[in-house]
This record gives sequence, structure tokens and C-alpha cells, in this order.
Amino acid sequence: MADKISVLIPEEKVNDKIKELGERISADYAGKEVHLICILKGGVFFACELAKHITVPVSLDFMQVSSYGNATSSSGIVRIKKDLDDSMEGKEVVIVEDIIDSGRTLHYLIPVLKQRNPASIRLCALLNKPDRREVEVQIDYLGFDIPDEFVVGYGLDYAQKYRNLPFIGVVEPDAADNAEAEPERKGAVIE
Ligand code: IMP
Ligand code: MG
Repeated sequence: MADKISVLIPEEKVNDKIKELGERISADYAGKEVHLICILKGGVFFACELAKHITVPVSLDFMQVSSYGNATSSSGIVRIKKDLDDSMEGKEVVIVEDIIDSGRTLHYLIPVLKQRNPASIRLCALLNKPDRREVEVQIDYLGFDIPDEFVVGYGLDYAQKYRNLPFIGVVEPDAADNAEAEPERKGAVIE
């Protein structure tokens, strides 16, 4: 049976916010170029839409990481599954991520990327769950603060499904499938 999904942030609000973030980035980087680093897979829909609203020249690169965790949180031990293709040396980097939850993934990743000598590095996240934060992460460009609910859509998945939903929804798994509920929380890998 199908999971129940209720809309938390409708499509139009998500789109308006991404446009606004694109305009802010365009203004902040006026006269410069922006190198967007999209964190796969969750950041991909957001990064593409954001890039369309940035009016300064944009280059794009992609990185995929896994963070290993226990039942309720990631450990902060992050493995790079796919590294960047291009050098980020001297570039104005903006990391584009779907959601900041415990904060552990970006808390680990940002210092690692800083060692690669970008001119600057900032973080842009579509969603933030402040109630779940375990380590500090500075979010320079944020779409929405959300409550501590498991959300899907706009790149975010539940067991790899629902990334393609054009809105942010809260998923209530069907009871029959519930044995594997919240794999990101109880399992070993968060993507
Ligand atoms: P953090 O290291 O705990 O901040 O982990 C962030 C990662 O956990 C995100 O990039 C997502 O892949 C995943 N995540 C956290 N919360 C959710 C959610 O509500 N839905 C889907 N994925 C989530
Ligand atoms: Mg992610």
C-alpha cells in the first residue's frame, strides 16, 4: 500500500523561496563567478533550480557523501563516495545541500573542502531542522526552518522514493511496510 504524504511546503512556496535565494546570491556575488557544489543526491533538484535564478556566471560540480550513524543520528564519520571533478582552488564556492539535520555531515565536510583553497566557501540549504542540531553549522543561505519531521520531495527521499515530488511533504509510512521505517535514522548509512 502507498505511503501517506501530507504537504508541508507547497510547490509555489518552494519555488518562490528558491528564486529569492538565487537573487540574494546573484547580488552577493555581483561581478564574480559562483562555483556551486551540489551534494548528491538530495541537493540535485534544488541546485538545478537555484542555478537558473543566479544571474552571475555559474559553474557546477557534484559530490556524494555517506555518513555512518546509529539509531538516531549520524556519527559525523563521513565517507566521500564521489569526489568533485574539478579543482575548487581560487573559486567562490557555494555548497548546495537539501537539508541540515544533526549538522554532522557539513560540520565534517566544510573544513575538508576549505583545505582545497577556495577563495571563499558558503553553505546554501533548502531546509533546516534546528531542533535536531548536534554540532554547529553556519547556513549562509537558508530556505526554510522546519519542525522535526521526516520530509520528502524536492530531492529528499524516503527509501530512495519521492525525490521527484515538486513540494516538501511529510511521509507517514504504511503500517505494513513499517518494519523498515526511517532507514536513515536506524540504519548505517545516511545519503
Ligand atoms: P546531518 O549530517 O544529520 O545534518 O544529515 C543530513 C542528511 O540527512 C541530509 O543530507 C539528508 O540526506 C538526510 N536527512 C535528514 N533529515 C531528512 C529528512 O527529513 N528527509 C530525508 N532525508 C533527511
Ligand atoms: Mg543529503
